[in-house]
Amino acid sequence: MNQAWGLKDMFNAITGERDKVPPAPHRPHQAANAGAPRRRCRAIAVAGGKGGVGKTTVAVNLGMSLAMAGRDVMLLDADMGLANVDVLLGLAPSRHLGHLLDGTATLEELVLEAPHGLKVIPGGSGARRLAQLGNGEHAAVIRAFDELPRPPDYLLVDTAAGLSDNVAMFAAAADDVVLVVCDEPASLTDAYALVKVLSRDFGVRRFRFVANLVRNAGEARALHQKLAKVSDRFLDVVLDFLGMVPQDERLRQAIRRQNAVVDLWPAARSSQAFKQLAGAVDNWEEPARAGLDRIAFFGGQTVPVAGW
Ligand SMILES: Nc1ncnc2c1ncn2[C@@H]1O[C@H](COP(=O)(O)OP(=O)(O)O)[C@@H](O)[C@H]1O
Ligand SMILES: [Mg+2]
Repeated sequence: MNQAWGLKDMFNAITGERDKVPPAPHRPHQAANAGAPRRRCRAIAVAGGKGGVGKTTVAVNLGMSLAMAGRDVMLLDADMGLANVDVLLGLAPSRHLGHLLDGTATLEELVLEAPHGLKVIPGGSGARRLAQLGNGEHAAVIRAFDELPRPPDYLLVDTAAGLSDNVAMFAAAADDVVLVVCDEPASLTDAYALVKVLSRDFGVRRFRFVANLVRNAGEARALHQKLAKVSDRFLDVVLDFLGMVPQDERLRQAIRRQNAVVDLWPAARSSQAFKQLAGAVDNWEEPARAGLDRIAFFGGQTVPVAGW
């Protein structure tokens, strides 16, 4: 970490709220039923605020690691207009979410099979219209998952960069938000800004931190501490440490070959890290769903919150 860029600078850079009274951090207990068999799909959004921090890489490799562990996994490319999950996996989609919204394809008809049975829903690339969808259309995509005849064990949602309604709606509709952060001031400030928007405007209270492009676990923990110190102080959120992915040349090579590194080189450092992340995710306690009053993946009867 750049030592010259300390916590104080981060406060100054990202908040205008230095005088705000910090809320008491709320830390839920680990549920006793961790590891219990799952009965329904868990939707996990992968977000980060900044572009290029590894959101798509984490979504693809975490998804494939879960698939390799025998889980039924679907991966939704919600970076609509600039979708690239299909590129990372060497897939050639003929249809994408635009066709779902046009009514010319069902969600099921969009599914492409990647290695290990990972199911990919392509987001569509190069169509400006897809990048400019309204909230009603995002809600329609989210609700389309209610119609799936056989929901998967996990739905991973790769989100776009930025703080748009698109990112916020998909993240807020998921059961969990994985926050991918790397050791750059802009990544930390953008991640903080995203956590702030999601907590303040969308009621998301818990985030799972993944440090990407770090050298070791110590660096990952330090990065987590840096963000958690600020979010604990200024926001009413829990920022759990989920894990880290090291900077790995093998991962870059796999991307160039349009393959998931976990599939191509399971022994690579990054592949081991993704396997660990998948193990941790698969041991999460069941998400709390009672009193759902938002648009949610697999939410069934839900009521949109005001302003959507
Ligand atoms: N752990 C890593 N090791 C090496 N290179 C990485 C790693 N994570 C990401 N990258 C590089 O960063 C690029 C951007 O990653 P990507 O997942 O597309 O970011 P995002 O989806 O956040 O925009 C990748 O194409 C890859 O070259
Ligand atoms: Mg991406």
